[in-house]
Amino acid sequence: MTEQHHGERARGQLYGRRKGPKLSPHRENLLETLLPQLEFKLKPGSDPKSYFSPPLCGGGETRSVSGGGQIEDVWLEIGFGAGEHLLWQAERNPQVGLIGAEPFINGVAKLLSKLVAEPSRTNIRLHTGDARDIIAALPDASLGRVFILFPDPWPKTRHHKRRFIQMEMLDELARVMKKGAELRFASDDKTYVAYALERLMAHDKFEWTASCAEDWRSRPTDWPPTRYEIKAIRGVPVFLRFRRL
Ligand SMILES: C[S@@+](CC[C@H](N)C(=O)[O-])C[C@H]1O[C@@H](n2cnc3c(N)ncnc32)[C@H](O)[C@@H]1O
Repeated sequence: MTEQHHGERARGQLYGRRKGPKLSPHRENLLETLLPQLEFKLKPGSDPKSYFSPPLCGGGETRSVSGGGQIEDVWLEIGFGAGEHLLWQAERNPQVGLIGAEPFINGVAKLLSKLVAEPSRTNIRLHTGDARDIIAALPDASLGRVFILFPDPWPKTRHHKRRFIQMEMLDELARVMKKGAELRFASDDKTYVAYALERLMAHDKFEWTASCAEDWRSRPTDWPPTRYEIKAIRGVPVFLRFRRL
């Protein structure tokens, strides 16, 4: 880590709105009935696999989400938006527990509306708040993968300190990630890409795995597009992968 960024930490609130336009009665109902089945209480220092057992049960109008098979690894998605990527990964990796953090309640409700049609989704757990709370509560070397996809770009220079990727956050991520675990980052904001790369390349616990331009210009096949990526309003998306050393 360079002296320049040493001691750097994100300040203030990292996200904007918690609530957007008024939700439909159906989505309000899902927040009351299905969300409590998927939300978990943070237990500082506990192995995150424990968040996937014992099986969750619930009531209300929704069918209950029960616990599934053995969870072998846990991955974390920070700011899942409407959850398309989270759901895609959960479906294709049934042995992996997917924890999603998203404070924007309309996005959470959108994911729930997809999950209700698939009550067998047992390997998803949600935190409707700041991902930093989860990371702080995790024990060392407990995550196999971390996704930070199209984080809020905070393009104004005076707001850069609100960006999720800061040296201190990378220290924390390095602490909770297992050796060899992967950190995936995507952005369509050139300045954020440069900002993130500068810090990740300077960090002695992360190694960029790209060997040619194609590696960061194109999305790998096991990485579905997110809602935000499809809009790609700020520029051409870039896909970065780092290995925890
Ligand atoms: C630009 S959106 C991208 C959403 C999604 N990843 C996508 O690609 O469609 C960034 C998201 O990150 C969430 N976010 C911001 N700060 C966060 C934090 N500290 N913890 C968890 N989520 C956060 C925001 O609420 C927002 O939904």
